[in-house]
Amino acid sequence: MSRPIDLRSDTVTLPTPGMLDAMVHAELGDDVLGDDPTVIALEARCAELVGKDAALFVPSGTMANLIAIEVSTRRGDEVLLHDEAHPFHYETAGAAGLAGVQLRRLPGPRGVMDPDDVRAAVRADAPHYPRTALLCVEDTHNGGGGKVQPLDNTDALCEAAQQLGLARHLDGARLLNASVASGIGAARRAQGFDTVSFCFSKGLGAPAGSVVCGDAARMQRARRMRKMLGGAMRQTGILAAAALYALDHHVERLADDHRRTAEIARGLQTAGFELQPPDTNIVVVEVGAASQFVADLATHGVRCFPVSATAARLVVHLGITDDDVPRVIDAFTAVRESAR
Ligand SMILES: Cc1ncc(COP(=O)(O)O)c(C=O)c1O
Repeated sequence: MSRPIDLRSDTVTLPTPGMLDAMVHAELGDDVLGDDPTVIALEARCAELVGKDAALFVPSGTMANLIAIEVSTRRGDEVLLHDEAHPFHYETAGAAGLAGVQLRRLPGPRGVMDPDDVRAAVRADAPHYPRTALLCVEDTHNGGGGKVQPLDNTDALCEAAQQLGLARHLDGARLLNASVASGIGAARRAQGFDTVSFCFSKGLGAPAGSVVCGDAARMQRARRMRKMLGGAMRQTGILAAAALYALDHHVERLADDHRRTAEIARGLQTAGFELQPPDTNIVVVEVGAASQFVADLATHGVRCFPVSATAARLVVHLGITDDDVPRVIDAFTAVRESAR
């Protein structure tokens, strides 16, 4: 049987030979002492890429979000985010458990919130209420099937939040997917935000690492918080080298992932499956009884996750080739036919 096609997540990629070579030859130092030249170079490059004062290299997107939330809030504050936002569902309630904040979820189609809902959610200044301190936006939106946030709406969200005295954080785990798909640079997409995070371990194909960026004061606090969380590491240049390699070699190619995702989506639609047309590298497909369908699909060499009782999510990444596209469509069709 040919190799399995793993569409569970874009986090399953393995470092390419070129990336491994960059890691092996990275110039290293003790990053906790501020001595790792490769980390210093990565942080400077990331800050410039998103148009912020400074950046901090952290082990994961989860830690990046937690730090970003902590540096813009106090214990007992309330944070506004979308109903399907990553920190609410998939970050082990770290915002509550470690930053001591309450998360309040707002509705919106595919991760896109309405500025009026932000205005309506902000609490009055009274001793009964938590202080509404922060708005988080996710671009692309994972739970929304890789949705690229419409920029005019993002601007309106940030403007509403700013007028009401809220800080703004952009969870840009897949910000460069959004940037490549929209043709709008990462700095412009992050313009209205005080902090922005993005990940190297997803579409960019590095084995680990994310970055949180923002103004100098917040990033100073962020560095202390990273240390408190145990996220300050020593010769991290070995990982920063993979991230730099990814920025050099794996950004433009995200367009290939998006094209393949669109081809899979079109093929599945032609075969009669209902789905949300993808913006980027994620497509959510209606399959009926999703757990059973996904288990059957694995026996046809295609792996993915169910995301609801009736839908499966496919995530395309640099381990997926053009030849895999018809194989995915054939596997879906075969599973549906065998269930009839
Ligand atoms: C939108 C979003 N934010 C944050 C994260 C967390 O990243 P990590 O898995 O590196 O902790 C993810 C992970 O998939 C994500 O999709």
